[in-house]
Amino acid sequence: MPVDPIEETISWQSDNPHLSGNFAPVGREIDASALEVIEGRIPEELSGAYIRNGPNPRYEPVSYNYPLEGDGMLHAVRFSGGRASYHNRYVRTRSFEIEDKAGRGVYGGIMTPRPIEPGLLGPHDDPDNPFKASAFIGVMQHGDHLLALGEVEPAWEIGPGLETLGPWTAGTDEPIALGAHNRVHPVTGDMFALSYDLISPTVRIHHIGPDGILRRSFDIALAAPSMIHDFVLTERHIVLLIGPAVFDMEAMMQGKSFLQWREQLGTRIAVMPLDGGSVKWFEAEPFFVFHFANGFERGSDIVIDYVQHEKLYVGYGKRNTMPPTLRRLVLDAASGRVRGQAWFDKVAEFPRIDDRRTALASRYVYASTLTEALTGGNGASGTFNCLLRIDTETGDVTRHDFGNRIAGEAVFIPRGESEISGWLATYLYDPETESSEFALLDAEDIEDGPVLRLRLPQRVPQGLHGAWIPA
Ligand SMILES: [Fe+2]
Repeated sequence: MPVDPIEETISWQSDNPHLSGNFAPVGREIDASALEVIEGRIPEELSGAYIRNGPNPRYEPVSYNYPLEGDGMLHAVRFSGGRASYHNRYVRTRSFEIEDKAGRGVYGGIMTPRPIEPGLLGPHDDPDNPFKASAFIGVMQHGDHLLALGEVEPAWEIGPGLETLGPWTAGTDEPIALGAHNRVHPVTGDMFALSYDLISPTVRIHHIGPDGILRRSFDIALAAPSMIHDFVLTERHIVLLIGPAVFDMEAMMQGKSFLQWREQLGTRIAVMPLDGGSVKWFEAEPFFVFHFANGFERGSDIVIDYVQHEKLYVGYGKRNTMPPTLRRLVLDAASGRVRGQAWFDKVAEFPRIDDRRTALASRYVYASTLTEALTGGNGASGTFNCLLRIDTETGDVTRHDFGNRIAGEAVFIPRGESEISGWLATYLYDPETESSEFALLDAEDIEDGPVLRLRLPQRVPQGLHGAWIPA
């Protein structure tokens, strides 16, 4: 049932760099029509919505580890007939309702979870579950279902006005736990989703039909309960890169972090047929992957474009010596060998492609990087100001530097049939004016900068992943 938009602003401030500057949350849910064009023109043929999710804690968190916590907030720019509108809404998960009732933050955070006071819980809440589930990472459409996604928690179904409809069940009797990144098979339209476990050393793969009904689920045994943020779908396989980021209940009981880096485990790579057949394992040096651009089969090889992190760090203050870089990995199924190459040697994250190429051979990867032209902002990790396009056939890197403006992940919006025929959508933030814009670039000519800039009626905090939802 639709509820009234929240009109209160955020009443607290934090010194945490991931909760200040453009990482600071916004409180108001607003609707604005006829957005002002600052530059360019709105393509008449653009019909649909660019929707982006991100962590936007409503109440001051008890503890905060970016990018693993926060309340989900969806920001949408909707296009129709050469006009654009904006609206934003919280994802009203059960955890959101519990904190709404308390009027303050009550969750201890993923590193230091603590029990929720019984008086705040309802009859269907698990008193033993201390984890906040707030669907703040991603958003995707599957069939008729628009879903807000978090990290291994129920997916929340979202209505056309961004209202939260309830937990998604995928045709089953109970909410289905999904990860933030799920992939749809280009031929069958089946969705494959990954759900790892914080306690047990397994990861579960869900196979959901194009109709949104769960077909089957199967488990893969791991060495330890592991954090796996994203995975690779090819035409015939699912590929998991399992870095040594493990959940350790005993360590937590001793007052240490729940999430531990166990280098000695290395990174193990699982290649599994889509029907759940036996898994083939590859071994690699320890590294961590948050995000894959794409993966595909080439003969007996599996080719994967992704961002490699030296080690998993969350929160602020700790940094790897090497920046996360955009790379290609080739798994040679015949010999069991793993080969790698770098596409770009400076920091990069948020890799995306033309989603129509998911699991198929793809040539172009888009990603974000950081240049010295950004003089504002607070230096927190996850801050970027430059968009890259990597041509994986030639190795050419084309870029647009937004200068002293912070740019988010770029989402590809198809225009024509070819892989490069489309636009890239993102939100921009100007630290001088503390205001946000929506920008659209032509994927063929990203170096020319935005073909459209729209003024937004409020600041859009730095967020995570978005999607283009055609009308
Ligand atoms: Fe992600």
